[in-house]
Amino acid sequence: MDRHFPTACGAGGSPLIGAATLPAPSALAARWRLDKNLVFLNFGSYGGCPDEVLAAHDEYRARVERDPVRFFKVDLERLLDGVREKVGAFVGCRPENLAPIRNATMALATVFFSKGFRAGDEVVTNNHEYSSGTNELARLAERAGVRVVTAEVPFPIADPAEAAGAIIGAITSRTRLVVMSHVTSCTSLVMPVERVIAECHARGVDILIDGAHAPGQIELDIERLNPTYYVGSFHKWMCAPKGTGFLWVRADRRAGFRSAMLSSRAAKVREDRPLFLRDFDYMGTDDYTGMLCVPHAIEAMAKMVPGGWDEVRRRNRALALEARGAVCAMAGLRAGCPDSMVGSMVSLALPEADASLAGRATLYDDPLQDALVEKHGVQVPIWRLGEGTRENPGVRIIRLSAQLYNSIEQYRYLGEALVKELNGERALKQTG
Ligand SMILES: Cc1ncc(COP(=O)(O)O)c(C=O)c1O
Repeated sequence: MDRHFPTACGAGGSPLIGAATLPAPSALAARWRLDKNLVFLNFGSYGGCPDEVLAAHDEYRARVERDPVRFFKVDLERLLDGVREKVGAFVGCRPENLAPIRNATMALATVFFSKGFRAGDEVVTNNHEYSSGTNELARLAERAGVRVVTAEVPFPIADPAEAAGAIIGAITSRTRLVVMSHVTSCTSLVMPVERVIAECHARGVDILIDGAHAPGQIELDIERLNPTYYVGSFHKWMCAPKGTGFLWVRADRRAGFRSAMLSSRAAKVREDRPLFLRDFDYMGTDDYTGMLCVPHAIEAMAKMVPGGWDEVRRRNRALALEARGAVCAMAGLRAGCPDSMVGSMVSLALPEADASLAGRATLYDDPLQDALVEKHGVQVPIWRLGEGTRENPGVRIIRLSAQLYNSIEQYRYLGEALVKELNGERALKQTG
């Protein structure tokens, strides 16, 4: 198979490189359509869809086009019931508590919208939370006078108790909601959500778990965890089509919980179907076919290895840990957390580029990421915990994802590329 960079600017790699040889992914990579000229190490941001899922998606799209009126008016509701059933079994909840929603960003905003905050109410978040949630909270602070309290969780971190302690320590008598990730995005930490949920229950405070990274990465039983709200994504670790996520609302908070957008069907009188289901069955004309493929993704991934999803998660975690060991040894980095906080991703703190290099233009999130893509054909995120300002420079981080698609050789290749690029930055620093 041709493993050379494309000669014209393709999805992966630079035409400047010519014939650099890339390491092969795993044998299972044949099931995905990712560019073979790219070392793809970021299933955490967007999981690629396996072939079976893409084929199912094509079929659903063709079905819509045969009779869109029947699809939207008659079939969709019943098809979504099937999705709720299968997905509910996968994430550990009853189907009637589950709202399909396009992504975690919309699901988080829907919870904030539905809570009806008053001026002076406090929301506890922490410095590892994903920006779509914190941006929405900043807007709430501005418009509704909500006070956003940000607990500081260290990174690197030695013990999950440090995270739980920081978050619990920020709760006061004015706290209306705690928001925390199940697995953090930038820093890849599997967080001690059980501990924080228990504390919230004890204090009568609502808690929203942002599980965008959880389904498919760690075993999930939402009703056993029993937070107040849980949001998640299917298009990351479950490799479902893009634009597929969910919102779970505990039964005692469902009355009056409405979608942020009320569709043309919202006021229809129907005795046969609870409003919570109807609100999220249909949120206006849209492409709902990705959501219908989520059960196909659950099945396709489970069938790739003999031990099904348990083995998918086990293998990915083992590969993530092995990748961490390899890259740390090659690049002189150190692990960011104990093994107990690792799922299928690991994040490592990187040395800073010299201050004179600050403000360099970047296509992605950091010029180092651009260099890894353009000069080495590796797609891996480099970003920052903290604002990246002079006052709050934060920590520069590389995050490695491990999926069945990947091989350990890909991370060793990344390690070599990273060493070259970091040395290049140091040289610039010395001569600059
Ligand atoms: C923890 C977390 N929450 C929310 C999101 C937003 O997900 P989406 O872009 O699917 O809305 C992400 C995306 O990476 C995330 O990592």
